[in-house]
Amino acid sequence: MTNKKPFYITTPIYYPSGKLHIGSAYTTIACDVLARYKRMMNYDVFYLTGLDEHGQKIQSKAEEAGITPQEYVDDMAVGVKELWKLLDISYDKFIRTTDDYHEEVVAAVFERLLEQDDIYLGEYAGWYSVSDEEFFTESQLEEIFRDENGKVIGGIAPSGHEVEWVSEESYFLRLGKYADKLLDFFRTHPDFIQPDGRMNEIIKNFIEPGLEDLAVSRTSFTWGVKVPSDPKHVVYVWIDALLNYATALGYGQKNHANFDKFWQGTVYHMVGKDILRFHSIYWPIMLMMLDMKLPDRLIAHGWFVMKDGKMSKSKGNVVYPEMLVERYGLDALRYYLMRSLPVGSDGTFTPEDYVGRINYELANDLGNLLNRTVAMINKYFAGNIPAYAENVTDFDADLAATVAENLTEYHKQMDAVDYPRALEAVWNIISRTNKYIDETSPWVLAKEETDRDHLAAVMAHLAASLRVVAHLIQPFMMTTSNAIMEQLGLAGQFDLENLKLSGLPAGVKVAAKGTPIFPRLDMNDEIAYIKEQMGDSAAVAQADKKEWDPNAVELKNEKKAIKFEDFDKVEIRVAEVKEVTKVKGSDKLLQFRLDAGDGNDRQILSGIAKFYPNEQELVGQKLQIIANLKPRKMMGLVSQGMILSAEHADGRLTVLTVDAAVPNGSQIG
Ligand code: MSP
Repeated sequence: MTNKKPFYITTPIYYPSGKLHIGSAYTTIACDVLARYKRMMNYDVFYLTGLDEHGQKIQSKAEEAGITPQEYVDDMAVGVKELWKLLDISYDKFIRTTDDYHEEVVAAVFERLLEQDDIYLGEYAGWYSVSDEEFFTESQLEEIFRDENGKVIGGIAPSGHEVEWVSEESYFLRLGKYADKLLDFFRTHPDFIQPDGRMNEIIKNFIEPGLEDLAVSRTSFTWGVKVPSDPKHVVYVWIDALLNYATALGYGQKNHANFDKFWQGTVYHMVGKDILRFHSIYWPIMLMMLDMKLPDRLIAHGWFVMKDGKMSKSKGNVVYPEMLVERYGLDALRYYLMRSLPVGSDGTFTPEDYVGRINYELANDLGNLLNRTVAMINKYFAGNIPAYAENVTDFDADLAATVAENLTEYHKQMDAVDYPRALEAVWNIISRTNKYIDETSPWVLAKEETDRDHLAAVMAHLAASLRVVAHLIQPFMMTTSNAIMEQLGLAGQFDLENLKLSGLPAGVKVAAKGTPIFPRLDMNDEIAYIKEQMGDSAAVAQADKKEWDPNAVELKNEKKAIKFEDFDKVEIRVAEVKEVTKVKGSDKLLQFRLDAGDGNDRQILSGIAKFYPNEQELVGQKLQIIANLKPRKMMGLVSQGMILSAEHADGRLTVLTVDAAVPNGSQIG
């Protein structure tokens, strides 16, 4: 027990700003697979996941919902924990950055860095994206808006979110001072960032151009850890968040036994490619400042995307894990996600692929192999698995070699955290074993008493091979793996460390009747079902043709239901377009002068320029506007309201017009 090697694996902590989709489920399952694999390989594993609950984005979400940020994150945390339970995530700890112990250590670390002059007070002026909780330099912006004099007045971050100019007193982390030390670390630890190649990208894109000090406090909102010596500042959410990996183990607290053990052991952080920069630059430098050991590995994975790009509600292409688990079971989801995302690049989720893999790889290749094997052992040997003996039939040696080879390959790929390749190795064994049945034709051997030895060898090889497969898929598909072991009469008898084909115990009896582990699916029906669940409009239209029962309709609203009083606060009015012009420097915005019947024309900016290349066609039209929205500045111009438009599935917008006979200023509602 005591000489087990400690192994620490972490997921990123998720923003609880919306329902988690299969993308977040991917990372969490990927870490779970590694945790389970290492446990089976006799490591002492600590698996951490949790939530990143501070920051401006969460504060705004809570405001939108009309509740306090704490109420908001408490509510979201319940849902996330339920999801991890559904996905059978074997985490050892679930951290929330609003946990007291975490907040206390974040505050103390900030003060310590301030004292040792790794943090200093300065003035921050730059572009900030609230959605990304990230600062950008001008050169990092995807699109830049300028005024007529060429001055930059706004822009779009690489994520597609708008940035705003933030100018405030801020504390800074002296990243620059540690750049050389970080480069040295990279050079002496070439495997630090996986997959290979990502380290060079980080060096080229962020370190070589010069590492600027990082603004690490904000004064424009309050939802965060307050700086004890200067409480109008809250600690920048990324500094707060990164520290979770240490505080969760007890760092800086009375009980730090886990920290002493696991931080000194092997430490792996798994992250999406979009947040590698934070983990490969800010986090190591923070650790250097705190005189702490650096992690052993950062594993950066790509994204699950859809055929039409990133998942987004407005495109109607978001896939939530709950629906897939409910319909096809957990193992199918875990298998699909782990098998389909190639290391180092993005992967595309398609319903066709999902149903196809279940049918071909799980039901056909694996399910049939188990069924046939159990049925034959029952039929020919009254359920008793014959003792394993080597080289009886002409095909035994080749099967054994394939198993041995792929077993080595599997461990190699699991160590490299390359799951698609590890599973490919398992499926090589499965295919080879299926072929072995065809080659040996047991039903022919069964006809001759003289072939009894051969038949026995074949049955033993089939059972032995399935035993190996059950071990290898255990970290990925627990239920299926357990079911195979059970049907083989080997329930719970796992020993991955010493696994070999010849390790099949003697005197074992298979289940009297095999039960199919994966049902075969009707491709067309199931593809249509998934599409419908994704909100695909064509599929939904098809489904709508079914009989309509108004009392049993379940509304699929994206936002929480609100009370009538809340709706009543919104003032929607009819406003006539008097003038419209393109905003210089922006290909998105149109500037409107509108008559909303209140005597004063008002100005509204609307991001619909792309959809109205002949914007003058809008002059004279009567539109619907939200008249009591707080005025806000965009591109240096005040916008006094919002023009309502409808969003098509492809993201196009069409403004909502009303009949010309309706007087300007009429209230809608
Ligand atoms: N809160 C930060 C992480 C702080 S860690 C100290 C954050 N949260 S997040 O919720 O936005 O993203 C969490 C993880 O989910 C990231 O690793 C991100 O790459 C991953 N994914 C989000 N969408 C994804 C896909 N569509 N596919 C795969 N992973 C994706 O960033």
